[in-house]
Amino acid sequence: MKIAIIGAGGREHAILKKIASPEHQLFAIPGNAGMDAHCVNLHVSDTKGIVAFARQTQLDFIIVAPDNPLVAGLVDVLEDAGFACFGPRKSGAQLEGSKIFAKEFMQRHHIPTAPHRAFEDLQEASAFLAKSHFPVVIKADGLAFGKGVRVISGLEEGLAYLKALMVDHLFGESGCRVLIEECLEGKEASVLAFCDGLTLKPMLSAMDYKRALEGNQGLNTGGMGCIAPNPYFTPQIAKECQEKIFEPTLRGIQAEKLDFRGCLYFGLMLTAQGVKVIEYNCRFGDPEAQTLLPLLQSDLLAIMQACARQELAKQEVRFAPLHACCVVLASEGYPQDFEIGHVLSYPKELDICFAGVKHSAQGLCNAGGRVLSITSSAPTLQQARALSYTRIAQISLKNGYYRHDIGQL
Ligand SMILES: Nc1ncnc2c1ncn2[C@@H]1O[C@H](COP(=O)(O)OP(=O)(O)O)[C@@H](O)[C@H]1O
Ligand SMILES: [Mg+2]
Repeated sequence: MKIAIIGAGGREHAILKKIASPEHQLFAIPGNAGMDAHCVNLHVSDTKGIVAFARQTQLDFIIVAPDNPLVAGLVDVLEDAGFACFGPRKSGAQLEGSKIFAKEFMQRHHIPTAPHRAFEDLQEASAFLAKSHFPVVIKADGLAFGKGVRVISGLEEGLAYLKALMVDHLFGESGCRVLIEECLEGKEASVLAFCDGLTLKPMLSAMDYKRALEGNQGLNTGGMGCIAPNPYFTPQIAKECQEKIFEPTLRGIQAEKLDFRGCLYFGLMLTAQGVKVIEYNCRFGDPEAQTLLPLLQSDLLAIMQACARQELAKQEVRFAPLHACCVVLASEGYPQDFEIGHVLSYPKELDICFAGVKHSAQGLCNAGGRVLSITSSAPTLQQARALSYTRIAQISLKNGYYRHDIGQL
């Protein structure tokens, strides 16, 4: 088969590794220099270019991994042109593309989430804020590179953030509408699930590390590491999620005729009052994909095709009873300014998911904030963690840095 993945990061590399086989020809749009695939130099939002490439190459299957093209409706265009895809159509991707849509969806289907109000008028939002008990959480409605959410501890800070979103358009259109919601307390957990619109099959739970520095300090990043399963996600909590969150979400998707055939990501907060949904994503997380997929024992491509055909009920989704620990190597300075062009050296046999890398005369060099990730699996979290740190220490990059506390409880 000729299979293409849309995207360029470690998540996409992890997916490619899992579906690689001598029977398949793999393409990545645009991909990165560390991938064992034919990289096609097109931007993920170049819908016309992607459709033209798909036609010219006669692709058999297309995996759309990143949020932007999913929310923009790339799958709609590709499917309408006759291509089989993994990834929700625009209607399903709204669950991530608009946080207000997602909140209202949760309300309609009685799915537990933090109480909230939505605003499109600065005066009304400011007046509401003035009467709020702090902390509150303010969220830009639309996609904002994972940076649109702030926990606000006082009125002045909140008013300034509302102005930044609604007047100064810090995140463009995405911040024209905002959510103000109650600040929840608890441990966070992520559960990703395969979904074909008729059936939803959860994967292992995961715990990600978003902050740049050890001890969850520093700025928010795309993700500096991840472990699975999440140690706080007990079987009892899993049952609660199944009944109160996963099943009602699937019924809601059906009732509202959202077309969701892809990976549905539940961002959860385990509060003393029960599990609440923080957000939905309409795709694999990065580095959740790098963490979870190595533990998947069933055939990923078969699962993805079953999702596309709405035959997931018949498809096995089985994970190894192991623990995984993923550590991300980033360029010093990320998520702000960093230098690029430093050469990477690493043992050739090391299993690496590459992200921000490009070719140079001396081999691969860093070209982005998150450069690569290493995932290990073992019978215990401690063993998986120890293995990942032994492995990542074998990689040298002049301005590389990574957190040393991934998986340390
Ligand atoms: N209601 C809430 N209470 C407490 N923390 C929250 C709440 N909503 C979001 N957060 C925190 O902000 C982070 C980002 O929010 P989220 O809704 O997941 O947006 P995004 O991932 O798109 O930036 C969450 O992982 C969580 O740590
Ligand atoms: Mg999130």
